[in-house]
Amino acid sequence: MEENFDASVLEAPIINVIPPGPKSLKLLKDQEEYETSAVNYPKYFKIAIDKAQGSTITDVDGNVYIDLVTGISVVNLGHNNPFIRRRVQEQLEKVWHTLEIPTEIRVNFSKKLLSTLGFKAKLLFTTTGADAVEAAVKIARYVTGKRTIIAFEGSYHGITAGTLGLTGANRFKEFNPFFDDRVVKFPYPYPYRCPFKDCLNEILRLLDYAMSNPGYLGGDVAGILVEPIQGEGGYVVPPKGFLKGLKELAEKYSVPLIVDEVQTGVGRTGKMWAYQWENIEPDIVVISKAIGEGIPVSMVGYREEFNKLPTGFHLGTYRGNPLGLAAGLASLEFIEKYNILPRVERLGKKILEELSEVENSHVGDIRGLGFMIGIELVRNGNEPWSEGTKIVIEEALKRGLLVYKAGRWDNVIRLMPPLTIPEPLLNKAVEILKRILNSI
Ligand SMILES: Cc1ncc(COP(=O)(O)O)c(C=O)c1O
Repeated sequence: MEENFDASVLEAPIINVIPPGPKSLKLLKDQEEYETSAVNYPKYFKIAIDKAQGSTITDVDGNVYIDLVTGISVVNLGHNNPFIRRRVQEQLEKVWHTLEIPTEIRVNFSKKLLSTLGFKAKLLFTTTGADAVEAAVKIARYVTGKRTIIAFEGSYHGITAGTLGLTGANRFKEFNPFFDDRVVKFPYPYPYRCPFKDCLNEILRLLDYAMSNPGYLGGDVAGILVEPIQGEGGYVVPPKGFLKGLKELAEKYSVPLIVDEVQTGVGRTGKMWAYQWENIEPDIVVISKAIGEGIPVSMVGYREEFNKLPTGFHLGTYRGNPLGLAAGLASLEFIEKYNILPRVERLGKKILEELSEVENSHVGDIRGLGFMIGIELVRNGNEPWSEGTKIVIEEALKRGLLVYKAGRWDNVIRLMPPLTIPEPLLNKAVEILKRILNSI
């Protein structure tokens, strides 16, 4: 099936010149001249990109890399996927900016997306992940008339002023202290590092206590905001039963459960939505990244009973861009047509098995679900080793592999391969990574 939809350079990786080659260096220098010193990714991937096809990226010096980053889980179906590109091009010929005035693509996208959620919902369109999280929290506060949001340590929900308070990692807050103080953080069950004896139940018990106790949060909780797997927090997979437990608490206290699927959604974990692993229905779901396959579009799906929002409740000029919706509809259809989900589940397990053969005391934990895999690097026992992720990213780049980091201490290598990656390329990538991990 893969020949039909995957344009990867199957000979990858091809390293003609150790990166950064001279043409890359020139563009990196030019970028430095014109752009802010705050740019992030070029400091890790010291290359300039010429083009990208399927699971491969070609730099301006002709090196071809296997891409296990997918623009942070955005280009889930491979770069320049011909199926998606054709549908975006068709829309481009019609109209590419409409405000909220209905178009066929808007209506068809909405109908299709809603059919995948598993509960009766309405959609509110937004533009980015953070915008969608802000809208979701606003909806929860509006429909409950309450203010406190329960969120989790290590979480990432964006770094706009409105989402900084919801995001757990303090390092993002150094530059903007004005975050929301009506957010209370609880520990996220982190099996590798959990200080509790019975991590999952201890955390659920704490939450239950806080929500029932009028001297604490009781009576003022507007919503529980959670990632089904923590993304930026280090690809932390909670024990089975966590989302189910949260859903039970949410129901017990009539509080909306807001599931942030920005990174986990659209097939990344082997289900269309990661909450479907726990067979629960969220009250509000936040969707972005891969739904637009690289064209910025995001949305909030919320339970139909909440549909009492006043006109103009949430605004934003670019919400629901038709090109993004064309990409979104095409990607949902593509995942079904090519039966992508079982593929991701099967190959995800295979990657974990392969990586478990690595023998190095710096590899503290290997975990994941589907194509969302984290490798936690440590030293002196289980002390986080952030230098290690730098070494691995740099070494991988030299060998033609793009991988990136995550984690509260920046010490987790994360793998986010395209869901369409041809198996031989995936095997090569894992082989290279294993060699690096064995040698650090
Ligand atoms: C779970 C989650 N929520 C929200 C966001 C914020 O999305 P954006 O960067 O589009 O604002 C991210 C970004 O990585 C994310 O991973």
